[in-house]
Amino acid sequence: MSQVVWQNYQISRADREQQNGHQGVVVWFTGLSGAGKSTVANALEQELVKRKVHSYLLDGDNVRHGLCADLGFSEADRTENIRRVGAVAGLMLDAGLVVLSAFISPYRAQRQAIRNSLPEGKFLEIYIATSLDVCEQRDVKGLYQKARRGEISHFTGISDPYEAPDQPDLTIDTAQQSLEQSVEQLIALLTEKGVLS
Ligand code: PPS
Repeated sequence: MSQVVWQNYQISRADREQQNGHQGVVVWFTGLSGAGKSTVANALEQELVKRKVHSYLLDGDNVRHGLCADLGFSEADRTENIRRVGAVAGLMLDAGLVVLSAFISPYRAQRQAIRNSLPEGKFLEIYIATSLDVCEQRDVKGLYQKARRGEISHFTGISDPYEAPDQPDLTIDTAQQSLEQSVEQLIALLTEKGVLS
């Protein structure tokens, strides 16, 4: 947009990170509905708050009540959903936060676009790899049953694609490991990446 000119800020992300006492990063959880993205992200955030880390959790169900309330589940709408959330995550990163994002984000290209839009090393992809069978057995919201009955169209894993990450920074299967183990692994990853000390 040539008629809009970028304005430089006087306070940088590094200034904000210094004030916060830790680095910012975007921790991006991807996986099927019911895989445990929100559960793991919430548990991680509780641990981060205990450690006085400045964080915020962006969650698909909640964002779709406001910022993305106009969007459905077609490929174009999901791409726009993830584009908006990626932009918000980028702003929060600029504020020096540890941003947790829990969205199905089913397309590799969507997730890659967000990685590309952020500074190098500031996007950590966490694959919540719980199998479709397990997600469907859990069916916490009853959505899989509805999808199987054809009452919901474009349902991820049933009538819509899910493209698993090729090289995630961490893979978690919530049917194979406890919530505590998952949080421990995430804290270890954030420590290894220099976000936590
Ligand atoms: S996406 O693909 O990233 O844009 O989806 P997201 O914003 O994460 O929203 C997923 C939640 O929406 C509910 N829901 C559906 N999911 C998948 N497919 C269809 N058709 C659908 N319709 C509604 C569902 O509760 C998802 O929540 P989670 O937390 O993933 O279970």
